[in-house]
Amino acid sequence: MAGAGISTPSGIPDFRSPGSGLYDNLQQYDLPYAEAIFEIGFFHRNPAPFFALAKELYPGNYRPNPTHFFVHLLHQKGQLLRMYTQNIDGLERLAGIPPEKLVEAHGTFATATCTSCLQKYKGEELRPAVMSGSVPKCSACGGVVKPDIVFFGEELPPHFLKYLTDFPLADLLIIMGTSLEVEPFASLAGAVRSSVPRLLINRDPVGPFVWGRRPQDVLQLGEVMGGVQALVEALGWTRELQALMAAGKTDGWQREPIRTVFSSVAS
Ligand code: OAD
Repeated sequence: MAGAGISTPSGIPDFRSPGSGLYDNLQQYDLPYAEAIFEIGFFHRNPAPFFALAKELYPGNYRPNPTHFFVHLLHQKGQLLRMYTQNIDGLERLAGIPPEKLVEAHGTFATATCTSCLQKYKGEELRPAVMSGSVPKCSACGGVVKPDIVFFGEELPPHFLKYLTDFPLADLLIIMGTSLEVEPFASLAGAVRSSVPRLLINRDPVGPFVWGRRPQDVLQLGEVMGGVQALVEALGWTRELQALMAAGKTDGWQREPIRTVFSSVAS
C-alpha cells in the first residue's frame, strides 16, 4: 500500500505534511477550504482550481524514484501480489510495474471522462488544454472533461474490490508513504490476516501502527528512500535494483549508481 510519501523524493508534494504538503499551499486558488480542490461538488461548480493544479501535477513532469523501482523488482522476483496506490502521479506505471499488478485506488490521469455525455478520452488528449491553463471541453457535447481521478464524493474504481481476494492471500503487507487518513483505502491495512507481518516505511507512525499495533508489526521510521534502501540491502538486491533502474528507458538519471541516487535524494 502506498501514498504520496513515496513520490515526495521525486519532487511531488504530499497532501498533509505541515508546510510542504499540498493542502498548506493552495492559497492562490481561493478555495473555501483546501480539500475542496478534490471535491466533486465543488468541481462541478468551479473546475478551474483543479485544472490549475493539474497543470502542475500532470504526468510527464516527474520521474519515478528507487521506491517505485523497488516495487517493480518485487514483481520481477515473483513476490508482488498487487500494489495498492493512492497516487495519481502515474509513477508506478512509469517505473514499469505492469498495470494488472496495480490498483490505482484514487484513479489516474491516464484516462478521462466527459462529465456530461460520459465520452472517454485518453489523458494525453487533455494535455494541450491543461497545459495552456484552460478547462478541457468535450469535442462531442462541450461538457467539462474530468481526468479519471477519484474525488471526494465519488466511488472508487471497481477493481478496488480486488482487495477482497488479494488481502486474505497476502503473507506480507508493506505500507509506504501514507498517512492512512483517507477511507476506504486506510482500512485495507487491517484486511490482511492477523498473523501477517505489516511493515510500515514512513516518516511517522500512522493508522493502526498508532492505535492498533499487532505483535508482528514492524516500523521503519524515517525517509522512505532510506527505509527501502535498508530493506533492499538486507535482501541482497541492491545490484538488481540498480540494474532495473539502469534499464529504465525514461532518461539518464537512473543510470547513476543507486547509492548516488539514494544519497543525493537524502541530502
Ligand atoms: P498524506 O499527505 O496524507 O500522507 C503522506 C505520508 O507520507 C505522511 O505520513 C508523511 O509523513 C509521509 N511522507 C511524506 N514524504 C515522505 C518521505 N520522503 N519519506 C517518508 N515518509 C514520507 O498522503 P496520502 O496518505 O497519500 O486523495 O493521502 C491520501 C489521500 O488524501 C490522497 O490520495 C488524496 C488526499 O486527499 C484524493 O485526492 C482523493
